[in-house]
Parts: sequence; C-alpha cells; structure tokens
Amino acid sequence: TEIIDKDVVIIGSGYGGSVAALRLCEKNIPVTLLEMGLDWEKSGKKFSAMSNPGHSAAWLKTKSIAPFFNLFSLEKFTGALDRLDYEHIKIWVGRGVGGGSLVNGGMAVTPKMEYFKEMFPTLDTDKFYSHYFPLANKELKTNVASEEFLEDCDFYKFNRVGEEEAHKAGYKTVRVPNVYDFKYMEQEYKNEVPRSALAGEVIYGNNHGKNSLDKTYLRKATATRKLEILELHQVNHITQNSDKSYSLDISVINTKGEEIQHKIIKTKKLIMAAGTMGSLELLLKSQAKTQFPIDQNIGKEWGNNGNFMTGRNWVKAFSGGTGFQQSTIPVGGIDHWEDEKYPFFVEIAPLPMGMNVATSLYLMVNKLKKFGGVSYDVKSEKLDLDWNKSHTAHMKDNAKYFLRSMNKANGGTRAHMLFHNGFGADVCYHPLGGIVLGKATDQFGRLNGHQNLYVIDGSLIPGTIGVNPFVTITAIAEYCMEEIIKKDFA
Ligand code: FDA
Repeated sequence: TEIIDKDVVIIGSGYGGSVAALRLCEKNIPVTLLEMGLDWEKSGKKFSAMSNPGHSAAWLKTKSIAPFFNLFSLEKFTGALDRLDYEHIKIWVGRGVGGGSLVNGGMAVTPKMEYFKEMFPTLDTDKFYSHYFPLANKELKTNVASEEFLEDCDFYKFNRVGEEEAHKAGYKTVRVPNVYDFKYMEQEYKNEVPRSALAGEVIYGNNHGKNSLDKTYLRKATATRKLEILELHQVNHITQNSDKSYSLDISVINTKGEEIQHKIIKTKKLIMAAGTMGSLELLLKSQAKTQFPIDQNIGKEWGNNGNFMTGRNWVKAFSGGTGFQQSTIPVGGIDHWEDEKYPFFVEIAPLPMGMNVATSLYLMVNKLKKFGGVSYDVKSEKLDLDWNKSHTAHMKDNAKYFLRSMNKANGGTRAHMLFHNGFGADVCYHPLGGIVLGKATDQFGRLNGHQNLYVIDGSLIPGTIGVNPFVTITAIAEYCMEEIIKKDFA
C-alpha cells in the first residue's frame, strides 16, 4: 500500500467538486481531485448512443440500465451511468470526470425565488439571484434555443406537440435553458458538424455539443496547472487521524472494476463532493468502519426532488405522432407550480426511439410532503433508505390529475408500456439532501464537529428545490467556496 501526503483533496468531480477545484486552483492552491469513474476525454473513448449501448452505458453491469427498454447485454466496464437500486426507488447517477454532467439532460433551471427562500430561509436570496445564480449560469454556459429553430426543426416535433397539447389542456408552458450548445445543434441539423443530440446521444454521454463540466469548470481549473485529476480512484472510507488530518482508503481500479492498487492518501483539508448518495455513503460507512465522528443530522432531510415519471400513449398516432427522430435535449416545461391543490413542474421529455412512437414522456418535479432518511446497514454494507410509497402518494395524485386533464383535452391513455400502470414513482434522477446546509454543516458547508472537512454537493439541499437541480448545486457551491477560501485558506 502506497501512502501519499496531499494538502487539499476533493472527492468527486461533479458540480460541487468542479466548482471547488476551480476556485481553489485560481487562488494558486494545488488540488488533488479523486474520481472513481473514467476520464472520458483523456481516454479517447466514445460515448454510446441510446440505441446502441456500449462501454459508456453502465457502471460495471452486464445489462443496460436506462429507465426503459432494457434489452441490451453489456461487457462489464466503468461506464458513465450508474443505477442504485432500493426497494421503492431507483437512483441514476453519473460516473466519470464531470460526474452527472456527463449523462444528464443539461436542463439548466434556476429555481423559483420564493421556493428557494422557503428551502434556504437563512441564505441571502437577493445575493443569490443577483450574483451566484448568474455566475453559475455563465460558467456552465447556459443558453436558450432560438424559437425559429424550434419551430422549424423536425427533431423538436415532440416538444411542439407537447406544448400544444398542454395549452389545449389549459397549462402554461415555459422555455427551458440548457447547457447543450444550441448553435452547435443548429449546425448539426444542417449536417455541417457531427451529430450528437440529433443522433440519440445523452444518457450514456454526448460526444459533441454538450458543455459538460469537463468543458467548463474543469477545463478552466486544469488550465491553471494546479489541478491533479486522479481517475479510477475509488475512495472506500475515511479515517480521522489524531492530528486532525484525514486518511483516505482508496482502491485504484481498472476499467473492469478490479482493484489494481491500494493507496492511502493523507490530507489536511478534505472536500467531499461525491454527490448526494456518494457523500452520504462515505460518511456513514466511515462512521461504521472507523468510528469516524459525524453529526446526528447526517442522513436526515433526504428526498427525490419530487421526481415522478409518467407518460401518455397518444391516440392520434396515425395522424402524426411525436416524430420519427427526436433531439435528446429537452427545451420545454409545463409550469403548474403555483396551483394550490396540484402544484408541479413537468419536463416535456424526449423519447428518441428512432420510430414514431406516439408516446409522450414526462418527468414531473413535485413538492415533498415528507422527507426520507438515509442510514447505513452494517450487514449488507449498503445504504438503507427510509423511502416508500407514502412519500410519493401525493406525486401520484398529481400525475393522475395531469394525465387525466391532458387526455381529456387531447385524447390518449396512460403509457402502460413505459412503466407499470403508467406511473414511474420509483424513477429518481435528482437525489438531494441528507447533509443539509445549516443543519449537518454550518452556513457554508463545513461539516459539524470538524475543522477541515467540507461537503459541497447536492446533499446540502434539503430534499427538494422544485426544478432540475444542477444550477442550484453550482450556485451553492460558488457561495460556500467563496467564504471557505476567504476564511480557511488565507
Ligand atoms: P455528481 O453526482 O454530479 O458527482 C459526484 C461524483 O463523485 C461522480 O462523478 C461520482 O463518480 C464521484 N464519486 C462518488 N463516490 C465516490 C467515491 N467513493 N470515490 C470517488 N469518487 C466518487 N439535473 C439538472 O439540473 N438538469 C437535468 O437535465 C438533469 N438531468 C439528469 C438526467 C440523468 C439521467 C441524471 C442521472 C441526472 C440528471 N440531473 C439533471 C441531475 C444532476 O446531474 C445531478 O443533480 C448532479 O450531477 C449532482 O451534482 P453533484 O455535484 O451533487 O454530484
């Protein structure tokens, strides 16, 4: 076992980890970034399209793990998409340098100010909306598609149909910004550049067009020459040493997931950015294994961000459907958040199947009525989730209401083909919370009871933020790192 000393270590290269890396490196502070997944850019390997799952399609699994149509066998490989299975919920996460940004739909949504205030009553809302959110959107390269292009492009028929149907049912729709470069997509459409969003690439990674973190925050951080990225470094657990430094037990793995080297990295300052599930697992497992001291609030106020998938089969199939070809990048949403009885936000999601499916897919984001909880089961050495149907019952009511109103106005039935009974209550893309800001940490992500340990990722958000979460995660990371660098790295 090799033992190595480092000054500052970040675990995980998603939104939190990438913001932390850039802001530290900019101040000339050398940083080591540990990522269990592959550095896809460096590897030169291609991401696979949804229709043809290859190396990038799943993290060390022998079958593909997309939410539906799982018919593909795979060779075990450190792919970019992982799925964590619990009794009542399946949680998808990204793996690789760039974390979730590699596999997500790129929807870059700033939350509603009122709801942000409700979730974070102690934060300076004005400063977030005048500074941290605009900063996050600028660095992430958020942009909006031109209406002209969306009107014209065959690949957005699914969105035009989705919006038309929503309007007919009396709903308000909104344009949703994205980090996919729409100027690039326009060129794709004209066949001037290689296609990605228009070639069915997204959930297993995009080879072009998407401004994932490796193209934004991490590229800038790398340019400072202060950043060392160690890929395929899986942190197993953490020990606190008597001098208050931290020792990380690490397996260096090959692309088959086999340990090829065992390492201990010792560091004075540790930033945990392994994502909601990753940071929770590391802290809770370390407590069980090494008596690592953790705050009693860890594991509390966890939620699925109100994720609920559903869909409609569309009776007008023979008169048009949603189009043979669909862009993988969503651009439209249905905003019903202000409704008192049935508040929700719906992503009009693409279903790029390469055939005219006449099915509409929706990812609903609902409020939470009841938080879930996360603990560690020593026997199975896995996280245990306190999450069941009682947490999603009101989301199902919203989905029923939504589908009924859409079907009444437009015709159609619940999409039984996509999900059992047409309801995907167990599909979660947005796990949040469990290490909540101001509860398990101070107001800036410093973990309670520790001097040099920080948590900077989705786990800081108390279970729900009302929209797709990465803009919020990025803005909160910017806010925390500004203070931490000023006070703790001076
Ligand atoms: P994130 O999960 O991004 O990064 C954590 C990193 O830590 C990962 O790279 C992981 O491999 C690594 N790690 C974990 N444990 C480790 C360990 N023990 N050792 C070493 N490394 C470790 N959001 C949105 O706003 N708009 C959208 O359109 C979508 N769409 C979407 C689609 C799909 C399919 C998914 C799965 C997710 C989305 N999301 C989304 C959600 C979004 O991607 C997610 O909220 C963020 O990536 C979370 O950012 P974090 O910084 O918290 O962690």
